Amino acid sequence: MLTLENIRFCYKNSAAPIFDGLSLRAEKGSFVSIIGASGSGKTTLFRLLNGLEQPEEGRILIDGEPLSAHRQYASYMPQQDLLFPWLTVEKNVMLPMTVQKKPKEEAAAKARELLRQVGLEGWENRWPRELSGGMRQRVSFARTLCAGGDILLLDEPFSALDSITRIQLQEWLMDQWKQLNKTILFITHDVEEAIFLSQKILVLTGHPVTGLMEFTVPMPKERNREMLLLPETARLKEDLIALLRREAKAEGTEGAERIHDADEAGIDR
Ligand SMILES: Nc1ncnc2c1ncn2[C@@H]1O[C@H](COP(=O)(O)OP(=O)(O)OP(=O)(O)O)[C@@H](O)[C@H]1O
Ligand SMILES: [Mg+2]
Repeated sequence: MLTLENIRFCYKNSAAPIFDGLSLRAEKGSFVSIIGASGSGKTTLFRLLNGLEQPEEGRILIDGEPLSAHRQYASYMPQQDLLFPWLTVEKNVMLPMTVQKKPKEEAAAKARELLRQVGLEGWENRWPRELSGGMRQRVSFARTLCAGGDILLLDEPFSALDSITRIQLQEWLMDQWKQLNKTILFITHDVEEAIFLSQKILVLTGHPVTGLMEFTVPMPKERNREMLLLPETARLKEDLIALLRREAKAEGTEGAERIHDADEAGIDR
């Protein structure tokens, strides 16, 4: 179980905090999506969870123990696929183990096993430039698994893909999740994607974010795309879109107020 308690966080070079009093819980083995306006702090939340940033106040706990007591608990898949063009597919996947100074043969064997698992057997010695966008994301996912964390932090992994590839990869990720027995936190801007994949959806609202709105997805673990048309699922989709619209509108107003305040104070923008 992952727990965040009353987190306050502010980037060093910034005046206003991103989070103030943020709390959340994710059950072990669950699939949780995180949505919110651009700039609301989704990636920052992941940076806190993988220890790249430290909260000013509050605690991050894994099964009741501080995050710092766990080694390599979370594995992060970044917003852009960061495959190194000068490394083969296999070497890209084994990179986290190379960095962890694991024996080369063990790392290569693990990478080959993971590539088989993501359906890319036979591609080990190819170059990233020879792959399609969807294949690159599967390699990137395999590399995230190679890091060995119990919790996978996936930051908009499918946002750059065309809609059919995206739907195929959503179904693929769903199957992976069922087999892997890992907790997945998944950032997306796509409400339907969040509903199709997750058991729980958290929405970041406000500046700073003081809390999360939580929605339970009314679909069983075994699901298919037709279930998105069920009345309760369609209702949830419309509710989430309305909420995000309100947030975007509030943000517009706040932004205008900030500009007005800056004008009043004679500050250059
Ligand atoms: N290293 C940094 N230093 C200072 N401010 C930062 C830094 N990284 C992000 N920010 C600011 O923190 C806020 C939240 O950024 P973050 O990247 O977490 O947003 P996001 O919700 O992931 O947005 P998007 O949907 O566009 O990816 C933004 O206002 C951003 O400008
Ligand atoms: Mg982001």
